[in-house]
Amino acid sequence: MVQGTVNWSTKADKDWLQGYVDDWVDFYRKHTKEGQVASYIPILAKANPNHLGISIHGKNGMIVKSGDTDIPFTIQSISKVISFMVACMEKGIGYVLDRVDVEPTGEAFNSIMHLEMKSIDKPLNPFVNAGALTVTSMLNGKTAMEKLEPILKLLEKMIGYRPTINQAVFESEEESSARNRAIGYYLVETGFLESNLELTLETYFKQCSIEITVDDLARIGLILANDGRDPFGEGEIIPRQIARIVKALMLTCGMYDASGKFATYVGIPAKSGVSGGIMAVAPPRVRERYLPFIEGCGIGVYGPALEDRGNSIAGIKLLKHIASQWDLSVF
Ligand code: DON
Repeated sequence: MVQGTVNWSTKADKDWLQGYVDDWVDFYRKHTKEGQVASYIPILAKANPNHLGISIHGKNGMIVKSGDTDIPFTIQSISKVISFMVACMEKGIGYVLDRVDVEPTGEAFNSIMHLEMKSIDKPLNPFVNAGALTVTSMLNGKTAMEKLEPILKLLEKMIGYRPTINQAVFESEEESSARNRAIGYYLVETGFLESNLELTLETYFKQCSIEITVDDLARIGLILANDGRDPFGEGEIIPRQIARIVKALMLTCGMYDASGKFATYVGIPAKSGVSGGIMAVAPPRVRERYLPFIEGCGIGVYGPALEDRGNSIAGIKLLKHIASQWDLSVF
């Protein structure tokens, strides 16, 4: 009897949760029609706007996935989480945070405005493009592939295979790079970039073009939920303090200028990308009731139709519903 179990790990438990998640994906798929696929990078406009998929990986080994879960997509801005962690591991947290702040901007991810309007001494956070380019410029290496190697290695450790870079997406990013170049030139002029602009941009576009799936995002989310340790592997993959900082940044800045609403209505750290991915982290929680995934889980979502801030429109609605049903909020 499902309700009488204590660890949500039996086949009957899984089937029960699976039934619900299938219904919720079916229900929320209609909201994909309210969004638009990203078109400022031409190749992303080819995505099927009706797609919606989710994968949830629990610390107890339970995996529930539903919808369009087999479609590979590019990681885009979710890579900013990985590059930030790699920079902290390479240079030390203090070094990185001396050069990039941890404050939400309340502005679009590719805004250049705050750099000039507010009298700041560093980009406001690593998840807006100004901060992400600064972080990427800090990575060790003289070529883009040297800088990317530790990112690919860290991903491989977490997802179990070496991901590839989608060359067509990389080229499309380069062809439509005017805004990132503008931000980049501003960073050069203000002395924030530690590598030359061309190398920084090439590395950044390549990191955004890494291909992943919802299962991969759920795996990474699960490791973050577990403070940087793989519950099924040995040892620490990400130092605990870095995992904590990155989760705080995801909660406050991960969904761009919709981060406040996401924290309020969903209540878990998450990071989105313009190809429609969302990586969410539900840390272990203490509750009176016994709830699914109470020991923590990672969630990967794919839904390329976006709202006006650049986040998956149906993905956010689906996450909001699941978070309320299972009481996932960290608050
Ligand atoms: O235009 C860029 O900077 C991208 N390649 C990454 C953008 C992104 O995913 C922002 N997200 N919501």
